[in-house]
Amino acid sequence: MEIIKVEGLKKYFPVQKSFLEVLFSKELQFIKAVDGVSFTVKKGEMLSLVGESGCGKTTVGRMLVGLEEPTEGRIYFKERDITSLRGEKRREIQRHIQIIFQDPYASLNPRMKIGEHITDPLLIHGIATNEEAKRMAIEMLERVGLVPGEQFYNRLPYQLSGGQRQRVAIARAMVLKPEFVVADEAVSMIDVSLRAAILNLLMSFKEEYNLSMLFITHDLSVAKLVGDRIAVMYLGKIVELGEVNEVIHKPKHPYTAALLSAVPSFEKRDLRVGIFGDVSNPIDLPPGCRYNPRCPFAKDECRKAEPELIGTDRHSFACHYPLDIVVE
Ligand SMILES: Nc1ncnc2c1ncn2[C@@H]1O[C@H](COP(=O)(O)OP(=O)(O)OP(=O)(O)O)[C@@H](O)[C@H]1O
Ligand SMILES: [Mg+2]
Repeated sequence: MEIIKVEGLKKYFPVQKSFLEVLFSKELQFIKAVDGVSFTVKKGEMLSLVGESGCGKTTVGRMLVGLEEPTEGRIYFKERDITSLRGEKRREIQRHIQIIFQDPYASLNPRMKIGEHITDPLLIHGIATNEEAKRMAIEMLERVGLVPGEQFYNRLPYQLSGGQRQRVAIARAMVLKPEFVVADEAVSMIDVSLRAAILNLLMSFKEEYNLSMLFITHDLSVAKLVGDRIAVMYLGKIVELGEVNEVIHKPKHPYTAALLSAVPSFEKRDLRVGIFGDVSNPIDLPPGCRYNPRCPFAKDECRKAEPELIGTDRHSFACHYPLDIVVE
């Protein structure tokens, strides 16, 4: 069953201009943060969303959980169109769709006890009484490895380490037993030595609740580790999407291959597809394929026509001249 389906999702942010610029410019300019993205996440599936900084990953995640309104496109939760749901109806759905943010320092309220971060959602959604909520929060704290739960319950965020705070953020998302979770760079800000433990914790919840997840990361080696499928984003679009083994071992898009060549375990393989230059400006996109200014294989057609994402459920890609390589 499809838990999440996204169709033609776009988010354009207006560019902030000074008074003089507004006076003299003819048209409004937009940052095309997300520019026509479609994918599905099945029950119990982990979809990794990878790409460089600024390619629109967080914006996709924020639209899914209702923090950002799409400029265009539709979002379905279990076949129900939730794109424009607001107020009480949105809150009802919100219980089933949670997000774990990138930054465990910014996502906790410095004046709120750790335990209250976890009882809060239970009380807001009317799931438990004060007493029950406290008991559930302590249980959940222990479940995420903050033992004894009672002690952690009464602490303030500054009294916890970065890794412990990320556990709190996970506990807060999971206490509602959601069906779908967006994990936005959930392990990027924590020490490398702790990453595996936090990933394992997330995976254990996925197993226990048969959770579906959108796992956002800029690190293809992490995506490879946790994903059932991988979606590779470049400048607001998905350029390659497929099962992990397909995308990692038979990359079709030169951008995916370039990301792969930056992964330490792959770097010795001669992929011959380094990335050149900087990422293009999301306000003023190049004509044709948006990757063409950096692509070592770009030909005339790539500078004229924008390639569509085509292929099968197992593997699809948006490239006029897909690679034919096997990366062992
Ligand atoms: N609220 C906003 N207003 C204006 N521009 C925004 C806003 N949020 C994001 N952007 C722009 O949209 C683009 C995509 O940003 P986004 O945060 O989604 O990227 P990302 O892939 O998550 O990057 P990172 O890996 O650094 O977290 C960027 O160019 C960013 O500057
Ligand atoms: Mg981000």
